[in-house]
Amino acid sequence: MRIYLIGYMGSGKSTVSGRLAAQLGFQRLDLDELFEEHYKIPIHRFFEKYDQTVFRTFESRLLKETESFDNVVISTGGGTPCFYDNMFWMNQHGLTVYLKISAGAIASRLSQSKKKRPLVSQKKPDELLGFVREHLRQRNIYYSQARITIQAESIDLNELLRLVRQYQ
Ligand code: S3P
Repeated sequence: MRIYLIGYMGSGKSTVSGRLAAQLGFQRLDLDELFEEHYKIPIHRFFEKYDQTVFRTFESRLLKETESFDNVVISTGGGTPCFYDNMFWMNQHGLTVYLKISAGAIASRLSQSKKKRPLVSQKKPDELLGFVREHLRQRNIYYSQARITIQAESIDLNELLRLVRQYQ
């Protein structure tokens, strides 16, 4: 079984993937980490050096390589489902789980996060909430195609496990 965690930046995908993988006895993978290891460059540097279009092409290519893994929980990047056929492909090749979280909670998490995120790092504090709200609205068409949606402000791991096991 392959589980893809999707959701906006700051929704907790990496943390939840570790906890879920431990409970299921699965391996945990993070697509951003795979990208940085594979291309030997931090993502924020990649955005500076090339551009988002190139990033999305490489990201999609790498996503498709996860087909070779089994019994794994994969946390994706916030934009992964929103480009090319990635969302359709994840639904064909695994179980998709959307960590749904409000724009307000995201903005507050992102403003405290130490991770360098190229799409929001230039935003001023008073612009962040408006940006996230609009961006989330645009991405919702992709996120809403997930097989499972769970509220992510504070994850109920037992509930998530129960939902996932229905597909095992
Ligand atoms: C992105 C999210 C990031 C990373 C890249 C682009 C996005 O991952 O893939 O900076 O488009 O939302 P996280 O969601 O893990 O921050």
